Amino acid sequence: MKKAQSSKLKAQNYNGVIDRYKKYLPVTDRTPVITLKEGNTPLIYSKFLSKIIGANFEVYLKYEGLNPTGSFKDRGMTVAISKVCEEGPGAVICASTGNTSASAAAYAAAAGIKCIVLIPSGAIALGKLSQALIHGAVVIAINGNFDDALNLVKEITAKYPITLVNSINPYRIEGQKTASFEICDYLEDSPEFQVMPVGNAGNITAYWKGYKEYKGIGLIKKLPKMLGFQAAGAAPIVKGHPIKYPKTIATAIRIGNPASWKQAEEARDESEGLIDMVSDKQILEAYKLLATKDGVFVEPASATSVAGLLKLAHKGYFKLQAPSSKLQTKIVCILTGHGLKDPDRAIETVKKPKVVKANLKAVLREIGY
Ligand code: F0G
Repeated sequence: MKKAQSSKLKAQNYNGVIDRYKKYLPVTDRTPVITLKEGNTPLIYSKFLSKIIGANFEVYLKYEGLNPTGSFKDRGMTVAISKVCEEGPGAVICASTGNTSASAAAYAAAAGIKCIVLIPSGAIALGKLSQALIHGAVVIAINGNFDDALNLVKEITAKYPITLVNSINPYRIEGQKTASFEICDYLEDSPEFQVMPVGNAGNITAYWKGYKEYKGIGLIKKLPKMLGFQAAGAAPIVKGHPIKYPKTIATAIRIGNPASWKQAEEARDESEGLIDMVSDKQILEAYKLLATKDGVFVEPASATSVAGLLKLAHKGYFKLQAPSSKLQTKIVCILTGHGLKDPDRAIETVKKPKVVKANLKAVLREIGY
C-alpha cells in the first residue's frame, strides 16, 4: 500500500517540459504554464538495430510519438502557447502537414484560445486531421501544398493580431530543444550520432541548440554529429534548391522550401554531420522493421531516421566515423510521431486480415493447428 502511494506521488511530480527545464527556457514566474505534461519520453534501446550496426554500437530510439498529441510538436507548443497567454488574450495560427495543427489545436483548447490551421487539402494523415477537428480548431484546407500554406499564414500574421505557432516562432524551438536535454540527462553525455527526419527543419535546429547549450554550461563533454534525412521526393536541402512539387508518402515531411533551411545547414556543418535523403521504399522498409522487430509503431516520416541509419550503416559510415577511443558508440534515432497518426498507411503496407467462417475448424486451419 505504502509502495503504491509513493509511486503515484512520483508520477504526479512530472509536470511537463516547462516545469522540468524552466531555467533554460524563456519563461518567468508570471508565465501561465499551459501543459499537457509533454516530454519525458522514453529512450528505448534497440537490440535489433544495435546488432545490425555492429559490436561496440548502441542504438537508441527516442520515442516522441508518446507525447500527449502523439508527436514532438508538443514540446514547442507548450512554450509557444504559454507565451501567447502571458502576452494577453490572443488567437494562434499555423500551416501544417498535420502534427503541428494537432498540437496547436490541443494546447489552444487547453488555454481557451482560438486556433486556426491551414493544411494542404487531401495531403495530411487521417489521425492528425481528426485531432485538429476534435480540439475545435478552425481548419482550412487549401488547394496547395505546405509551402503555400506557410506563405499564407506568414502574410496573415504580418497584418492581423494572430500569433504564428509554426517553428519559425522562436518559442517553439526553445521548447523542442528539451528533447536533447532529456537524451543527455539519460545517457549522461551526448550520443556520438543523432539521426532524424528533416522537413521544415525546425526540429534539427532545436536539437542542435539544446546540445550546444548543455555543452556551454558543462553538462555534457561533447556534441553529437547531426545526421538529417529528407525524403527523396522532398529533399530541397540535399539538392540545394527548393522543390516546387514535393512528393513522398511521408506526408509530415512533404516540404519543398524549409523555413529553417539555413539553421539546418549550420547544424550539419558545425557538427560535422550530414543531410542526406532516403527513398519512399527505404522509408517503408524501416517503418515495417521498427514495428515488427522493435515493437515500435511510428508514422512514415519518423521511420526516415531509421531508413537513414540503415543507409549509412550499409556504406560503413559509422565504423569509419566512430571515435576510435570509444568502447561503446551511441547513436540516437529520433522517432518524431506515433504510428496511429496514419492508420491508412499501416493497413496499406501489410496484408489485410483474412475473413473466415466463425467456427473453430476454420480458425484452426488458418493458424496451422
Ligand atoms: N516528423 C514528423 C512526424 C513531423 O510531423 C515533422 C514536421 C517532422 C518530422 C519534421 O520536423 O519540420 O521540424 O523538420 N511536421 C510539421 C507539421 C511540418 O506541420 O506538422 P521539422
